[in-house]
Amino acid sequence: MKQFVMESAGVNKQGRLTLGGVDTVYLAEKYSTPLYVMDEDVVIKNCLAYKNSIDKFYGGRGKVLFASKALSAVFMYKIVKECGLGVDVVSGGELYTALKAGTNPADICFHGNSKSEQELFEAISQNVGRIIVDNKEELLRIEKIAGSLNKKVKILFRIKPGVDAHTHQFIMTGQIDSKFGVAMENGEALDIMRLAATLQNVEVVGADCHIGSQIFEVLPFKVTAEKMIDFMAQVRDEVGITLSELNLGGGFGIKYTEKDDPVPYEEYIKLVHDTIRDTCAKHNLELPFIYMEPGRSIVASAGLTLYTVSAVKEIKDVRNYVLIDGGMCDNPRYALYKSEYSLCVANKAAENTDYVATVAGKCCESGDLIQEDVPLTKPCAGDTVAVFATGAYNYSMASNYNRNPRPAMVAIRGGKDRLVIKRETYEDIIRNDVF
Ligand SMILES: Cc1ncc(COP(=O)(O)O)c(C=O)c1O
Repeated sequence: MKQFVMESAGVNKQGRLTLGGVDTVYLAEKYSTPLYVMDEDVVIKNCLAYKNSIDKFYGGRGKVLFASKALSAVFMYKIVKECGLGVDVVSGGELYTALKAGTNPADICFHGNSKSEQELFEAISQNVGRIIVDNKEELLRIEKIAGSLNKKVKILFRIKPGVDAHTHQFIMTGQIDSKFGVAMENGEALDIMRLAATLQNVEVVGADCHIGSQIFEVLPFKVTAEKMIDFMAQVRDEVGITLSELNLGGGFGIKYTEKDDPVPYEEYIKLVHDTIRDTCAKHNLELPFIYMEPGRSIVASAGLTLYTVSAVKEIKDVRNYVLIDGGMCDNPRYALYKSEYSLCVANKAAENTDYVATVAGKCCESGDLIQEDVPLTKPCAGDTVAVFATGAYNYSMASNYNRNPRPAMVAIRGGKDRLVIKRETYEDIIRNDVF
């Protein structure tokens, strides 16, 4: 039996790749390519695994928020609501999508390091549950807008705990040299708490952190939890505010290739819970309400992307290129930070993978690659290539570069497929051009 990095992928009697029991070549023919395919059953399983662990360790004193930057679309907000999760949004656009999908504003935390006045106005007038404040200017802007709307806004501060999570430097956000939040070690974090304590229209309820993404070790999370509780005790002692909430962010790694070995969520949640309990006891601090914000680990392993091979270029003694009908416009992650993926020729999924090739996109950039020198079954024009674990930060990072329409997305639930995002048309692409 052939194994893939995605648990719900398999091979059917025709030797074709399946996802959630559905033939992916049939999906490519039915909906055309490039095509994002999401296994909703896996998304639901992941949401519930987080929710059940949080409920188990924190009882009613914890909440899972889906970091919707990983995949912001109406159907996703509906699924996470169905599973009892809240959401984290980072822009007016994500907020708008969440609200349109029927998300309760109280279940929304609004993040972002450079929110505009307009976005803050929208979030405050829509009564989002919490705003995660990034910096002093933003704090003062919120104070002003909340005052003009006659509201008191519950806020948490994004704190840099100074933890190096050993991940790719582009996606490491916890250390002091980062554009996100205020630092603990230079006193900035305490200063902003002092300032907030003097304001009328904000209520500081907590502290927030996020130390990076695609992290496999548990130690950075444990150290971060300890540092954050120490900081909350310092805020109580030196500023006189008792913070009752702690947002631990996301960042849990997923299996992109066979090398990746993610820690089960429950193991991590237990370790962090025990650390928080012990550190609170040390400071005689009440256990805070805990938020977690997984993004990638909820959706990445639930999704794959299907492409059609347009040509195979064998450059003797140099390299084999497999050219596909998508690329960095629907998945910019390899071009951005050399993200690793596993691939398969979907219509030859049972065959040996003894051919090595670089899978290249159709955009006018030499760096438009999906993966270099990967093992594949030898493909030919017209074959369907599947790229695994593309459920996170693919559709949400897609662009119209070269005026390529964004692909459609299909979701599979209980062995049935349905369209959840339509393919963009050329008409969609020129919609905002002024003639
Ligand atoms: C504040 C915050 N929370 C949560 C996440 C989600 O992280 P991940 O997708 O790695 O779980 C991010 C990702 O950038 C983030 O910045």
